[in-house]
Amino acid sequence: MVKKTNPSHISTTLAVPDVASIPKHLAIIMDGNGRWATKRFLPRVAGHSQGLNTVREIVKECGDLGVEYLTLFAFSSENWRRPAEEVGFLMKLFLTALEKEVSRLDKNNVRLRVVGDLTKFDQQIQERVVQAEEKTAHNTGLNLTIAANYGGRWDMLQAVSACLKANPNITPDGVTEALLTPHLSMSYAPEPDLFIRTGGEQRISNFLLWQLAYTELYFTDLLWPDFDVKALQASFAWYRERERRFGRTSAQVIDAEK
Ligand code: IPE
Ligand code: IPE
Ligand code: MG
Repeated sequence: MVKKTNPSHISTTLAVPDVASIPKHLAIIMDGNGRWATKRFLPRVAGHSQGLNTVREIVKECGDLGVEYLTLFAFSSENWRRPAEEVGFLMKLFLTALEKEVSRLDKNNVRLRVVGDLTKFDQQIQERVVQAEEKTAHNTGLNLTIAANYGGRWDMLQAVSACLKANPNITPDGVTEALLTPHLSMSYAPEPDLFIRTGGEQRISNFLLWQLAYTELYFTDLLWPDFDVKALQASFAWYRERERRFGRTSAQVIDAEK
């Protein structure tokens, strides 16, 4: 909800960004909660509760490792299709987390933001989101973003609408990245360097469609509640081995690093 474009965040398609050994921005699809619970003969929702413990651990570790932006996909725009009881449980869990976790995040210097179409949530959740964002707005440590009722297509469409409203004299040929991207819901962050999806599926499921253009994609069979610090470190080790060419040749990359 709080929005501000940071002009120092270069678009990967307009220029070649700086690359560090630790991802500056990590985006995660936290998948596999339901299967984790089913394997244990527990109701699926038990997996969501357990998944919140993993969130706590990974947020802490990312802060310690110097990740600047961590974005977690918590609820997609298509997750409303799930059984009403499961959706209801997830809403309750989201509300409780907003009530119980924010003080700890604040103490750890974490700045929290929530992206997605929040108008579909209960008034109470919407208010808590605003309060949590305001409470942590001054923090300078990890930038934690929760994507809730988020869809990559929704994001692009709302950005196009906002861009046209902000630039009423724009011509069809006048639409540029520079005019559009400030209206994407994560305009305050650089594009993700590393994407992790747990749970074994190798798909994007309508997550950050625009922003993942040059992101390194890492898939693990671990179910989200089983994903831990060791698994995070393994993904970072894999990331360090990638040659991020951004369209250039390998020789050019080596030359640019000299
Ligand atoms: C991810 O775990 C959490 C949400 C989508 C809210 P799932 O609930 O999708 O778990 P699986 O994929 O069914 O195991
Ligand atoms: C993606 O997981 C969304 C979240 C983790 C919030 P899903 O479980 O909803 O994705 P699909 O349906 O398997 O693609
Ligand atoms: Mg799933």
